[in-house]
Amino acid sequence: MGEDVDSYQTWRSTYNKGKDWEATFQRGQWNYLDEVGELPRYAVIAGYIHKLLPGGDVLDAGCGEAVFSQYLDLERFRYTGIDLSPTAIERAGRRLRRGTVRVSSIEEFSAPAGERYCAVVFNESIQFTDTPLESIDRYREFLTPEGLIVISLFRTADERGNGPRLARFLVTECENWRYSLVDRCEAVSVSHSRVWEIFVLR
Ligand SMILES: C[S@@+](CC[C@H](N)C(=O)[O-])C[C@H]1O[C@@H](n2cnc3c(N)ncnc32)[C@H](O)[C@@H]1O
Repeated sequence: MGEDVDSYQTWRSTYNKGKDWEATFQRGQWNYLDEVGELPRYAVIAGYIHKLLPGGDVLDAGCGEAVFSQYLDLERFRYTGIDLSPTAIERAGRRLRRGTVRVSSIEEFSAPAGERYCAVVFNESIQFTDTPLESIDRYREFLTPEGLIVISLFRTADERGNGPRLARFLVTECENWRYSLVDRCEAVSVSHSRVWEIFVLR
């Protein structure tokens, strides 16, 4: 597929669905997410939240083992994590000092009645779903008026990978005013040759 003919309409049938998440967590394939080579994206996401928001509820959608919770000031922010892998959630529960986690898919989760989030974080998760833009739209409805959607997309070497593709679609949607772009940056690990695109949206 050439970049010139790529379109979000074909996403569902063409994106890389990737992993059997539960099996790969059981095998320990994601243990490296807790290592220093992944620090830049967690730290940048946490930096935006700490800088732009006074406090409130943060939802980590596709939280894995809740590594992100260790970068967040849990005195200021209440952390909720959801993930479809029971093994990840069980480990997240052991890691978490404060907050809650539960098994749920991004597609099935709804904010509990009366609950609104000051930030919803899709940290290397939304690009593995069938309908990322529709989910972002739905989760925006769970935000407080000043709330933020924060998205990290790993830049694969192949431009046709999920991260680069979804990043291009997000840029287009921001240009078309579907989303208001608060900021966009790259997090980089030079030592580990990893780059993540970070979007902060409203
Ligand atoms: C690369 S891991 C990132 C985990 C975590 N966000 C982090 O950065 O430490 C991708 C995560 O997305 C979760 N995931 C993938 N598709 C999902 C879905 N449809 N609903 C909920 N979680 C999902 C996986 O189970 C996995 O934990």
